[in-house]
Amino acid sequence: MGTSRTGAAGATARTHVSRTGQVAPAPRTGLKAPLSVAPSLPLDEILIGDCIAALERLPPESVDAVFADPPYNLQLEGALTRPDASLVDAVDDDWDKFASFSAYDAFTRAWLLACRRVMKKNATLWVIGSYHNIFRVGATLQDLDFWLLNDIVWRKANPMPNFRGRRFTNAHETLIWASKSAGAKAYTFHYDALKAGNEDTQMRSDWFIPLCTGEERLKGADGRKVHPTQKPEALLARVILSSTNPGDVVLDPFFGTGTTGAVAKRLGRHFIGVERDSAYAAAARARIAAVEPLSGAAIAAAPEKRAEARVPFLSLIEGGHVQPGETLVDERRRHKAVVRADGTLAVGPIVGSIHKIGALVQGLPACNGWTFWNAERAGRLVSIDAYRAKVREALSA
Ligand SMILES: C[S@@+](CC[C@H](N)C(=O)[O-])C[C@H]1O[C@@H](n2cnc3c(N)ncnc32)[C@H](O)[C@@H]1O
Repeated sequence: MGTSRTGAAGATARTHVSRTGQVAPAPRTGLKAPLSVAPSLPLDEILIGDCIAALERLPPESVDAVFADPPYNLQLEGALTRPDASLVDAVDDDWDKFASFSAYDAFTRAWLLACRRVMKKNATLWVIGSYHNIFRVGATLQDLDFWLLNDIVWRKANPMPNFRGRRFTNAHETLIWASKSAGAKAYTFHYDALKAGNEDTQMRSDWFIPLCTGEERLKGADGRKVHPTQKPEALLARVILSSTNPGDVVLDPFFGTGTTGAVAKRLGRHFIGVERDSAYAAAARARIAAVEPLSGAAIAAAPEKRAEARVPFLSLIEGGHVQPGETLVDERRRHKAVVRADGTLAVGPIVGSIHKIGALVQGLPACNGWTFWNAERAGRLVSIDAYRAKVREALSA
């Protein structure tokens, strides 16, 4: 069972700043990422207090991403027990208690608005929740004109069983990923890097990740969990790697044990955490201080294909890499086409782009001509994509 903590619950009770009446910055945690932001930001610090009040003190449009793991509003009725009568370690803390759905909605609206104010125009926001709260949060996001980009299902590899056998095992949580508005198109998304790290297959919206257990789970001197809902670092790593760049600022208004801060520091991002409970904040601070940032080479953003200069096939002819009149073939030499002086290919009387002719000879609706066609060079095949890379290199030199 989680430890009951002091602090009033509900939206109205959450307007105080802290137990001391201050938004208190904690000591810096020694992050080494480059500073590309306004100096007044409390970078790599944990602000102790209510997040709505704390965010009001931050400059507008100052953070690149938000990760929020707000109270679930679980509404537990009495203790939850296993078949052997032992108590389940459920979330029954005061921070998760709200008087009514409308109190929870008012709280959600207030903290989302506070986040929205400090988000840069192209920043994105992640919120994680369960069936108890995520639908209410999603509706509020839309009411506030956030633009939903995805909902991600975090499928838990090792979920807690349904002890009473009255419902399905609750084996997932949902993350909503949203931009500030429908017009905010230039948000960060490392599509190609995610795909490359996923066996060259598009990263899907269902993520299979274990719960936070073992060494990673923070425990007190009594051997009990420090926090009932510590999130796995692997989940935060995917969030941060997919939607931020090294040096970016990630805000977490419900910092808990500081999973966001630990992962941000390891990945060379800055964080700003807000946590109302000073014991959780102290645990987070110690945890983050022990994190070693990865080297620059390990975290440098992989170039996105979309960001690379567009190279027309004609440039390969102009650069002398491919000659008009020569024949290109596919990898197995089953199909061939003749290169024309204007940068098109011909198969008999049919003329078209490298893509169109590639698709035509295979009888397919589409084809990436760059990876399909090859030139013969001294008995070996050289992909025209390799020549494209050379042209790109020359263009950026
Ligand atoms: C679901 S937990 C976050 C756990 C965190 N993601 C982690 O990995 O440890 C929510 C946290 O928000 C804190 N909290 C609740 N209401 C808050 C508020 N109004 N302002 C700041 N923190 C709050 C709670 O004390 C709790 O630690």
